[in-house]
Amino acid sequence: MLLQKFHSLALSMSPRCLAPIFFAIIFANIVIYLLWTSPASRVPVRRRSNLDDGEYHADSHRKIKGVYIRSLDMAQSYQQSIPHWKGVWIPNRSIQVMSVIEDIYQRPEIKIVLLSFLKHSSNRKFYCCMHWSDDLREFVQVPARLDYIDLRYMAELQGAAFECSVRPSEMNGSHRVKYVSFASESCMDNRTPPMTVMTPERRTFEFAICTKVVYDYLDPRRLLEWFTFMEVMGASKILTFHNNVHNDTMTVLNYFAKTGLLELIEFDPRNRGGVSVKYTARNGQTHQAHHDKTLAARDCQYRLSGYDYVMTIDFDEFPVPRRPFGTISFLLEELARNFSDAAAFRMEPILLPPDWLSRKEPVLYHWQFTRGVHIRPYGNKWVYAPPFTWMASTHNVVPKDGYKTYVVPQEHLHFLHFRSCKLEWHSVNCSSLYQRLAQDEDSLLRFADRVLSKLQRHPLEKLIPLSTSFDYTSKVRKDPRGRGKLFEKTLLFDT
Ligand SMILES: *[C@@H]1O[C@H](CO)[C@@H](O)[C@H](O)[C@H]1NC(C)=O
Ligand SMILES: *[C@@H]1O[C@H](CO)[C@@H](O)[C@H](O)[C@H]1NC(C)=O
Ligand SMILES: *[C@@H]1O[C@H](CO)[C@@H](O)[C@H](O)[C@H]1NC(C)=O
Ligand SMILES: *[C@@H]1O[C@H](CO)[C@@H](O)[C@H](O)[C@H]1NC(C)=O
Ligand SMILES: *[C@@H]1O[C@H](CO)[C@@H](O)[C@H](O)[C@H]1NC(C)=O
Repeated sequence: MLLQKFHSLALSMSPRCLAPIFFAIIFANIVIYLLWTSPASRVPVRRRSNLDDGEYHADSHRKIKGVYIRSLDMAQSYQQSIPHWKGVWIPNRSIQVMSVIEDIYQRPEIKIVLLSFLKHSSNRKFYCCMHWSDDLREFVQVPARLDYIDLRYMAELQGAAFECSVRPSEMNGSHRVKYVSFASESCMDNRTPPMTVMTPERRTFEFAICTKVVYDYLDPRRLLEWFTFMEVMGASKILTFHNNVHNDTMTVLNYFAKTGLLELIEFDPRNRGGVSVKYTARNGQTHQAHHDKTLAARDCQYRLSGYDYVMTIDFDEFPVPRRPFGTISFLLEELARNFSDAAAFRMEPILLPPDWLSRKEPVLYHWQFTRGVHIRPYGNKWVYAPPFTWMASTHNVVPKDGYKTYVVPQEHLHFLHFRSCKLEWHSVNCSSLYQRLAQDEDSLLRFADRVLSKLQRHPLEKLIPLSTSFDYTSKVRKDPRGRGKLFEKTLLFDT
């Protein structure tokens, strides 16, 4: 403003008068410079001491001289933000941040969780530059603290979670961090582009499902039946990460994303070792893949934290409630009432290997099985309550202090797993799983009508290629179940 005034003044004068005006401009610049660099600088750039102890030293921050603030480099102030799961490498560190999500159960303090990959040997010291407005020249600098690291397998990059916390009073009263960027030494130089902070909304009386990372090929029929069954069970939301998925499988995923049931996030850590990651049936079980999938489950824990319950399961797993429960929602409601200190419920699987298919059901794939076998404690999965859970990964849940875990009894739920026996389930002798020693498994039966009825309303012709199945679609269309009275009777409550 001041400069502009001097300039317009200068333009309106004759050349002879210019010399004193030039001196005046230089003097004014010095004055402005001194004002900007004084401790009363109005741009709050704050620094906290002590990086790794996680203690907060609110009083120890000091204001940093913000000389750079006068920079007219607008490119720096409105940078494009990097989408979640593309990965941002922190300069001069072997740390790749994949997503930034607010932990809504820490308020009024604002805690941002950074789901990340890191080389185990990396220097872990870095800073979050917390931005509360679109003008990225304003920020609060706080040290990142390592919250969790997955050390079960050593791989190129371990899964990890860092956290950065700030108080509203430190951000000119703002209660929301909009963007976070990162720097290894100081937010004032060599900052990364920002990532947009995801702030989950509270969704009471709803449950969500996290399926981690899907890749390669999944049979469209099986996938359709799974999604349809989950709709019948009352799931409000399904979150899936995808990487290198076959077109036929992707068509079904895109369809359910369009209906709003499914949220799809591309798992695409750019520039990991200079190549993009592509999973196939062959490389999908490496130690690195384990870390990648587990980190996706951890992302779900925070991203879906607004839901009363979250279930981390795969597309070949069916949690089937027993009478009198007609939906999972209904069962979870009663479990929550009966176990008020529960953070999570363990679901123990019943295995139904593909070679046990009995073909009594003429149409639906999953309904062709009549025998299953318990393989506990292998392949346990969980349904957990995010507010009371400290950590939820694929097969493990750690409750917060004061909360416990329970098992969902078989009388209330059969957790069916449709897959072949896996050699990595070390103590399960796969060759001894005789069908005649298994138990009758018919818990899915009473849901066939409702699943068929819903399936018939999906555009099956567009979702199932003719080459996959010559007659699946026409059989589903012709099936009288789902249209008849049988369905009407079971719609609300099973007794
Ligand atoms: C990177 O970090 C190492 C040690 O942490 C340091 O010696 C080196 O100077 C840093 N390089 C840059 C470009 O900051
Ligand atoms: C702080 O907040 C006030 C009121 O919302 C606003 O007028 C002022 O510009 C803000 N200052 C900074 C440095 O963001
Ligand atoms: C998958 O779809 C893409 C674009 O729709 C196409 O380019 C590609 O050839 C397809 N791949 C296969 C294996 O059909
Ligand atoms: C809840 O408690 C009641 C009374 O003890 C019991 O009858 C019922 O089976 C329990 N339900 C569940 C889902 O645990
Ligand atoms: C697995 O079960 C089969 C059949 O019961 C038996 O012959 C075999 O010795 C068992 N293997 C192990 C490692 O226990």
